[in-house]
Parts: sequence; structure tokens; C-alpha cells
Amino acid sequence: MPRPISAPRGTRDLLPDEGPAWSRVEAVARDLSSRYAFDRVETPLFERTELFARGLGESSDAVEKEMFRVSGATGSEEERAEWALRPEPTAGIVRAYVEHGLHVRPGPLRLWMLGPMFRYDRPQAGRYRQFSQWDVEVIGDPGPMVDAELIELGLRFYAEVGLTDVVAFINSIGDAECRPAYRQKLVSYFEGHESRLSHDSRRRLRVNPLRVLDDKELDPELAAGAPRSVDHLCDPCRAHFDAVRALLDALGVRYELDHRLVRGLDYYSRTTFEFFVAGRRGQQQALGGGGRYDGLAELLGGPPTPGIGFGIGIDRTVLVAEEQGVTPPAPAPLVAIVSADPEALEERLAVATTLRAAGLRVRVDGSSRKLGRQLESAAKFGARWAVIVGQRTGAGSVILRDLAAHEQRELPLGDVVAAIG
Ligand code: HAM
Repeated sequence: MPRPISAPRGTRDLLPDEGPAWSRVEAVARDLSSRYAFDRVETPLFERTELFARGLGESSDAVEKEMFRVSGATGSEEERAEWALRPEPTAGIVRAYVEHGLHVRPGPLRLWMLGPMFRYDRPQAGRYRQFSQWDVEVIGDPGPMVDAELIELGLRFYAEVGLTDVVAFINSIGDAECRPAYRQKLVSYFEGHESRLSHDSRRRLRVNPLRVLDDKELDPELAAGAPRSVDHLCDPCRAHFDAVRALLDALGVRYELDHRLVRGLDYYSRTTFEFFVAGRRGQQQALGGGGRYDGLAELLGGPPTPGIGFGIGIDRTVLVAEEQGVTPPAPAPLVAIVSADPEALEERLAVATTLRAAGLRVRVDGSSRKLGRQLESAAKFGARWAVIVGQRTGAGSVILRDLAAHEQRELPLGDVVAAIG
């Protein structure tokens, strides 16, 4: 017998038992996208590697270590160009914005997307090579109101999924005006303590010193003494951040400041934020995160355009929902169509079709097993009702059996929907 083939490491199959929990989380994302007036977009699952290198930064983990490269099999220059599966959606969405000249539309644009992302990372609990994100982006709004609006939206999402204790952490990392000086302060500080830095941080200190702050191996004492970006903001960045906080306070949104929250992608400026279950920090634990990227459109060849958004990990949200015992709402009652007459296939299918057209959830038994067996298996599938066809009933009538109460009665097919109510 040929050897069975397993799924690639770091990927998971969504099996029927998990379906309802996923569908529920995705439904909340879709519903909120609509209520907060976002328009749906889709971009390709793969893009030119250069897009990610330029947008996310050469030294980001997503580009430096986790790029999932794709190569065309043969020939033409186009096919030989380097592509990669998207590690995140923002670069692709802003690429589409620039490519299609969406800046001429009345802005700001509010866009959402739900779909798989790919990072070739070491798989662990909560960290996969293929995972799904709900992403929202607002392009063309310098804020600060929209920053507060998105943080509130993220928290609302978790609350509507049914999670408790999700906290927003926020920070401001300044902009092109004030960050260079802050960066220099950080470099000087950490250079003075270089022997206490991890191997990774020592390397990062030269290329991307802000990332030293989110090294989980960073000595807490050293971290506590490090210069804080919020103390080095230029006046416009300071005013922006103060306004975001005041708006969050006015809305009654709970948040905590986190001076080490610099995010792992280079396109960020000003406001950054992440969502965690209270008391559970750590890189595999973030339920979602985002921030402003006011320089990204320009970096990708478009007109200077402010932007802000977040990505929420669907996989991790489902995991926490399970941990917290959140149960998805029960699906609509299931109706099984059964018959003692093995010849009555046409009738079974016709009745099923009629009831489905009327909006019921219907499973039809096409077997020639005894009626009793068909009813047993209907109950095993969780059917609440059985419609028995092909019996000696009046024309146009069927038998409706309540599988919980073990009672049945004859009634016209047209009355079944009302009887099930
Ligand atoms: P990110 O923080 O890299 O941000 O990812 C957002 C969320 O995706 C994470 O908080 C986490 O829940 C989930 N996630 C990331 N990597 C994995 C993984 N390997 N396995 C499972 N879940 C994962 C971004 O991607 C930005 N594009 C967010 C954004 C949008 N910023 C502005 N607009």
C-alpha cells in the first residue's frame, strides 16, 4: 500500500469539528467590516519579493528569515522573477492602491481582507507557516481619530467573538523627523551595554536598533533603562499621540502603554499597537497588531499618503476562544430526509430540494437501508427532525418525525417549514 502523505509542517487542516468555531470568528470579522464601513479587497497570494523587501524592510524577520519563496518552473523573464507568498497583506494592498491610482477616489479608503498568509518560520503552538488574518486598512487619513477608531474596533472584535480580558498595548515610535535622533540615542545606550545583548540584538543594533527593544531575551533591567521613544517625539508626533490617547480615554477604551512595542515590520511610524490576553505577552501570543505607516505608499512609488491598519490572527483567536470555553452558536436545526422505499430517490431529492429552497438545513439519505437504520443515523448526525417520504400518505403529504420526542405526524409538505418553526 502506498505510504500516506501528511500535511506540510507548520500547516493545519481545518477539520469539520473545528468549522463552526472558525466560521463564527470569520463571521464576526465580516460583520464588523461592514458595520465600520470597510470595502472588501483581495490581492494575490504571491507578489514580487521586492515588494516585501521594500515595504516590510530587508532586516525584518518576515523578509530576512521567513520569506516563502515561489519560483516559476521555466523560461521567460517574468517566470524567473522572484516571487514570494505574502507574509502579510498590507504591502500588497498598498501596492494595489498605488498601481490602480486609487488615490484619485474620494478618500480616505477603508479596506478589509480575510485570508491566508505565509511565513517560513519555525512552527510552534500558535505559530504556523500558513495562518489566516483579518486585515483592515485606512489609507489617506492622517488621524488621530482613526487610530483610536481602529484600536476600539480591534477590541470590539475580540469582545464580540466572546473573548474576555483582551488588552490593547500602544506606543508611538515617531516619524522620519524625530526617529533618527531617537535611534541614535538607543544605539549609544545599547552600545554601552553590548556584552549584555543577545547575538541577534548585537547584529540588529547596527541595522535596526529599535528591534533590540522587542528581543525577548533582553535583560529587563537594561530594557527598563533604555531611552523611550515617547520621550523623544517631535511636536507633531507628540500632539498626535496625545490626541489618540485622549480619544481612547473619552471612548472608555482600556489600553496600556508599552514603551517596547516597536513592531517587527519597518513600515511603521507614529502609533503602534498590539492585542494580547491580559498577562500573556510574548511573540507567539499576540492576537493582533498594527499601526500607522505614513511613509509606505511613497516607498512603493505612490504619492505620499498616510495609512493605518491592523492584522488580527484568526488561528490564535480561535485557539484562545477554545481555551476560554467560548462555544460557537448552534447551527440551524438539521432535517433528514429518509424513506423505507429504496426506489424513492427522486422523491427524497425533490423534497430535500423544496425544503432547502425554503431555507432549511437538510441532509438526504440516499441509502436502501431499513427505515429504522436511516432514522438512527439521522440522529447520529444531529438531526432534530426527519421527513419520511414514500410512505402511504395523502398526495403531497409527508411524515414529519420529531427525533427528540419520538413523535410523528402526517402533514402537507408545504406545512413542514412552519411546523419546524
Ligand atoms: P503582524 O503583527 O505581523 O502584523 O501580524 C498580525 C497578527 O497575525 C499577529 O498578531 C498574529 O496574531 C498573527 N500572526 C502573525 N504571524 C503568525 C504565525 N506565524 N502564525 C499564526 N499567527 C500569526 C501584520 O501582519 C501587519 N500587516 C498588520 C498591519 C496591518 N499593520 C498595518 N496594517
